[in-house]
Amino acid sequence: MNNMKDSLGVSNGHLTIGGIDCTELAEQYGTPLYVMDEDVIRQACREFKASIDECYGRGMVCYATKAFCCKEMCRIMKDEGIGLDTVSGGEIYTALAAGFPADRIVFTSNNKKDEEIALAIDNNIGRITCDNIEELYRISDIASKKNKTVRVVLRLKPGVEAHTFEAVMTGKIDSKFGFAIETGEALKAAKEVAGLPSIELAGIHCHIGSQIHEIAPFEKACEVMFDFIGKLRDEGIIIKDLSLGGGFGIKYTDADKPIPYGDYMKAVSAKAKQCCEKLGLDMPFIMIEPGRSIAAPAGITLYTVGSRKIIPGIRTYIGIDGGMPDNPRYALYKSEYTAEVANKADEPKDEIVTIAGRTCESGDLIGENMPLQHAEAGDTVAILATGAYNYSMASHYNRVPNAAVVMVKGGTSRVVVRRETFEDMAKNDI
Ligand SMILES: Cc1ncc(COP(=O)(O)O)c(C=O)c1O
Repeated sequence: MNNMKDSLGVSNGHLTIGGIDCTELAEQYGTPLYVMDEDVIRQACREFKASIDECYGRGMVCYATKAFCCKEMCRIMKDEGIGLDTVSGGEIYTALAAGFPADRIVFTSNNKKDEEIALAIDNNIGRITCDNIEELYRISDIASKKNKTVRVVLRLKPGVEAHTFEAVMTGKIDSKFGFAIETGEALKAAKEVAGLPSIELAGIHCHIGSQIHEIAPFEKACEVMFDFIGKLRDEGIIIKDLSLGGGFGIKYTDADKPIPYGDYMKAVSAKAKQCCEKLGLDMPFIMIEPGRSIAAPAGITLYTVGSRKIIPGIRTYIGIDGGMPDNPRYALYKSEYTAEVANKADEPKDEIVTIAGRTCESGDLIGENMPLQHAEAGDTVAILATGAYNYSMASHYNRVPNAAVVMVKGGTSRVVVRRETFEDMAKNDI
């Protein structure tokens, strides 16, 4: 389910999510408001987990918490029996505070602070993905002082380019993430591990990018990774874990044609089996790290329209009570979204508008050239597929408090992250 078709509906002319009227949610909890459908989240987890079981038999889905992280999300992931791919001490802290099992947590980032490495080691986090040689030495050093052994996974650049936005493309050689295979840097790092105390080389990792709508780059990356596993085996280094990252594309607008998650998994596992046969390798423990595909389709953001500004012959601005602080993706990547006037959801979208945020920044837009029903002050606007990289990328620009997150399930709603107050924002000010 790469879109919200089973979650969103229209009842009495109003947009519904999980069977609940969006205008009632806006009234009850205020706006801006993130709303997530728990069933959509769980369904995506189950699809990925079933695919891993079917395609590989052995492996782990690690939800990439950077997409959307809060305690309740970690509890849902725990309940679904999947792992977490975390990227900071804050995400590890949140997962542990939610009672998430440490051995199912992976810590992947490109410049870990010593205190974050120590936090991971002290809490027996399952695996640490190492990004660079200095980090490898630091992990070994910190683990040695604590008399612990860390399972390290090396993040590699397979040199594969997927057709995605440049800022979310990570597997090519000119990337800040990981060790390059083609320059020999990765082989050198893998050999280095053998000589270092308190670390064990568990596996290798790659992540080629995000919002990818093609299978071929994943197959190519898989092949490159297996070739490298074969090369390591020839050097006497045995790789047990292979993480193939996340990046599965979802539907933001009708222009996006998402591929069912199972199709990626089938194609990539066929490639993996073929590589194992060719190279005489045993199938490693396979990990994948979907983030966007688990969280984005489950979420919408609700806003209240404050103004309608027509610039004759140029454009119509619809001013909303949120924007860049709760959703910076248009400002960052020109990401496109689908919008609905929640209280006019059965009316035709007969206007093309620019939805403008309320901060002091011309670039604070949710989108331009967006088809929308006629929107006026007081209407509720819903932006779809905002469950990932919205709340988690929120800022306090203009000292705007972070919006609340509400989860819907079985026709009921509950707050999972409270709306921030002015006091919350100012609490660390001296
Ligand atoms: C290492 C790693 N794994 C997984 C992900 C999740 O990617 P996506 O949300 O596109 O599935 C990312 C995203 O940046 C990443 O950097």
